Amino acid sequence: MHSFTDLVSQFEERFIASLPFPESPATIYEPCRYFLQLGGKRIRPVLCLMGNELFDEISEDAWHGAFGIELFHNFTLIHDDIMDKAPLRRGQPTIHTKYDLTAGILCGDVMNIYAYDELAKIKTALPQVLRVFNKTAIEVCEGQQLDMDFERRNDVGIDEYMHMIALKTSVLLACSLKIGALTSGAMGDNANKLYAFGINMGIAFQLQDDYLDAFGKTDLLGKQSGGDIIANKKTYLYLKAVENATAAQRKEIESLLQHSGADKVSAMLALFTATGADSQCRDAVAHYSKLAFDCLEDVAIPGKRKQPLMELANYLLVRDK
Ligand code: IPE
Ligand code: IPE
Ligand code: MG
Ligand code: MG
Ligand code: MG
Repeated sequence: MHSFTDLVSQFEERFIASLPFPESPATIYEPCRYFLQLGGKRIRPVLCLMGNELFDEISEDAWHGAFGIELFHNFTLIHDDIMDKAPLRRGQPTIHTKYDLTAGILCGDVMNIYAYDELAKIKTALPQVLRVFNKTAIEVCEGQQLDMDFERRNDVGIDEYMHMIALKTSVLLACSLKIGALTSGAMGDNANKLYAFGINMGIAFQLQDDYLDAFGKTDLLGKQSGGDIIANKKTYLYLKAVENATAAQRKEIESLLQHSGADKVSAMLALFTATGADSQCRDAVAHYSKLAFDCLEDVAIPGKRKQPLMELANYLLVRDK
């Protein structure tokens, strides 16, 4: 068995050494290489490798799955940064900022195709792998559209928010684990229980992402903190702040939605704290993490084999980026 940190560094080395892009046209492939070499936590590919190693030694198929999933994830980030007007990612300029909008659109598109090219190399359970991957990719698009729709709506409920983050974020973590399991030959109950673990961990992950976007520090986060507030994202923090607010606070929140700039961020953060939304968000992260750990316990393999996954899930709880 490999530890979380060991798998991250093995993945990093192999992935960067075998990036699939040709030299030309440099205008499309240079930005692709730029973005992928900025690092990132590599959570999803490592989940795929761990899902695989739960059942057997890590297979070549699992490596193809891991590469394909990380390429797909980065494609979604490149387009997400365009939609979210984000200037920074992993401490460096986003592709559409450093290059231009065309580069952002086309690098994302081509990276998505290269992701499929990598998955197509899988030999074990390829039809099942593609079924869960395609379902997931469709759900991510749906979740991303809902996320953008919600910016313009002021009547979003917590249930709708939970549904949206499950689609845009959780399903890919769950899918990564399941592809790892499927490529080891594991089917049925265990693969599905792992999927449920991934869904709950993914919800905790996105709640934490929203929390860090508000209260994290740009230099640690590598992303512009306060971006969600500026964009009027309907996050858990925002929705809970509205729910808990006094009439006067609610009026202030509503009027802040029309504002822009640094004052908006600091005023909204003060309201997130004053209404107790910040601690409720942290509680929700702990709650969904607990649900995730319960699902992992249900997977019918010896507890010792689950150690690396526990390590990864615990790291996600304390991360600051
Ligand atoms: C960012 O994902 C997008 C979300 C679903 C919140 P990560 O936080 O895993 O991004 P990297 O790959 O580590 O940069
Ligand atoms: C992005 O969610 C989810 C996907 C890319 C599918 P966010 O917009 O919250 O991610 P960050 O905060 O930019 O990483
Ligand atoms: Mg974003
Ligand atoms: Mg987004
Ligand atoms: Mg975010």
